Amino acid sequence: MDKDAGKKRAAEEAAKHIERGMTLGLGTGSTAAHFVDLVGKRVSEGWDLRGVPTSEATRAHAERLGVEIIEPDETTIIDLAVDGADEADPSLNLIKGGGAALLREKIIAHAAKKFIVIADKSKRVAALGAFPLPVEISPFSWALTVAAMRRVLTEQGFDGAPLELRARDGAPVKTDGGNLIIDCKLGRIENPAALEKALAAIPGVLESGLFCGMADMVIYGDEDGVSIATP
Ligand code: A5P
Repeated sequence: MDKDAGKKRAAEEAAKHIERGMTLGLGTGSTAAHFVDLVGKRVSEGWDLRGVPTSEATRAHAERLGVEIIEPDETTIIDLAVDGADEADPSLNLIKGGGAALLREKIIAHAAKKFIVIADKSKRVAALGAFPLPVEISPFSWALTVAAMRRVLTEQGFDGAPLELRARDGAPVKTDGGNLIIDCKLGRIENPAALEKALAAIPGVLESGLFCGMADMVIYGDEDGVSIATP
């Protein structure tokens, strides 16, 4: 399967939901980048659109295309947010954060009047958890936060699950907000909503990559077309 063709198809379908005058939440990652391209195209055709970026990479991309950028703290209105996902289950629960932008992505998706997820069909899973769950944590006393995460994960049935500080070239990966990412190799997650809530209650955890009950629609694409899942 040509995954990129699927990502593009899904982005094209999502772009049908753009209306003139909208403020758009712009997601992060290779799939969301296709959507940003389409927003740029509309703007070049004279559409009045603004974008609220979920990462510095997306901001730079949108700016290059001439999309007017609104800072997240300059607006309380986001008409439509469109973003990718690492996994999506039949209830439209998601794992996100492979691109280390999950905190900003969740804030924007939560604020949006409508949240559409776009993905190639390989992201559709029967149950979440094969993809390691990213959790964004404060760098302050991060080892204590990880210890608390281990306790909570044990209570949630994930005793001994490997937790890894995300690193690149020997240095911890820092998010755009200067935070750290812990990748949790959990395997099948039976109750993602309960896990999302339990992780969010740990001091030092800023957000997990579980997005439960947030998506209004998931658009899956492949070379042949798209299929649309709604709650
Ligand atoms: C970024 O932090 C992520 O949530 C992405 O949306 C997710 O990793 C999907 O990325 P791709 O579209 O590149 O697969």
